[in-house]
Amino acid sequence: MKITANHILEILNNSLNSTELSVIKHNLKKLLDNIKKSNLLEIDSKENNVKTDKIYLENELNQIIETKTIERTKYYIQRLVKGMTEIRTGKINDINLNQWKSYDDIITDSLWILDKRDNSGAHSAGYWGNFIPQIPNQFLKRFTKKGEWVLDPFVGSGTTLIEAKRLGRNGIGVDIQKLSIELTEANLKKDNSTNPVKIKLIEADSTKLNYENILKEIGIKSVQFVILHPPYWDIIKFSDNKDDLSNAKSIDEFLNSFGKIIDKTTPILDKGRYLAIVISDKYENGEWIPLGFYTMQETMKRGYKLKSTIVKNFEDTTAKRNQKSLWKYRSLVGGFYIFKHEYIFLFQKK
Ligand SMILES: C[S@@+](CC[C@H](N)C(=O)[O-])C[C@H]1O[C@@H](n2cnc3c(N)ncnc32)[C@H](O)[C@@H]1O
Repeated sequence: MKITANHILEILNNSLNSTELSVIKHNLKKLLDNIKKSNLLEIDSKENNVKTDKIYLENELNQIIETKTIERTKYYIQRLVKGMTEIRTGKINDINLNQWKSYDDIITDSLWILDKRDNSGAHSAGYWGNFIPQIPNQFLKRFTKKGEWVLDPFVGSGTTLIEAKRLGRNGIGVDIQKLSIELTEANLKKDNSTNPVKIKLIEADSTKLNYENILKEIGIKSVQFVILHPPYWDIIKFSDNKDDLSNAKSIDEFLNSFGKIIDKTTPILDKGRYLAIVISDKYENGEWIPLGFYTMQETMKRGYKLKSTIVKNFEDTTAKRNQKSLWKYRSLVGGFYIFKHEYIFLFQKK
């Protein structure tokens, strides 16, 4: 069964001219059956360059069919015609607001329970301390448009940049370790998405990096999104370099370096654009150390507007999983709770 956008639009427009609710419903039920039988996942409208998702179409048609009055029915039909022919996007992403219901993949709640790491393509959990690709994936889709630039000052194994490449966004990645830059390069090579993006990798200390020349060299004036996934102070030691944040000798030194990175980054982020920090707290000498809230404050001190605090589930490491009962015992004796979450703080530059 071949279904085209034009065919659907013709039926919808004919329904708008009809005065009989029963006739409209009959025709739309037939259309819905045909759409269900067709094996297309997306229906392209070549004239309007709008992609319409099959699930979205089915949901909209179901809603129209269940409507009781002809006025309401026509209102929903008009909305569907609009959704299939016009794209309405905001300033900071490519989400088509006329089809907002079809974005099942975009999280809008502040509690993120992400079960499985996306290990597809070039992604792997191999780099100790990398984040799951769903984190940059969510943010790039919500806070950037295709062709814009994202900056990751702690690039690690390149998770952000692999996602950027897949989604057609350009990226700058910085890391203090040569090994990380090489690993990111190798990971990007493994990725076989074909978007024509530009990626710039820099081996440097992000607290000291001057972006002006780098941007000049690339030929851009600013970036549109920043994601920071710093070491969670000394929980994982990433290198022997004294300027590596995981080697900070005190919490003050860690926060001071973190603040410097925000200072270096802020001038190159466009006004009104977003910055995300992914971080967890730590537990040491019988005390919970709120690294997350400290870094949040460092960022707010610098004039950013806090837009969301997201709590994300934290999967056990294999080592911790093997010692599960031991951790339970420690928790009961020590009077604390075992870490099961980390934070993502989302800010907007004023
Ligand atoms: C938590 S990891 C980031 C992992 C990354 N999100 C990924 O998915 O692969 C933190 C990274 O920050 C880097 N780093 C630590 N201090 C740094 C500094 N002063 N400048 C730049 N990078 C730094 C470490 O080498 C490490 O690769």
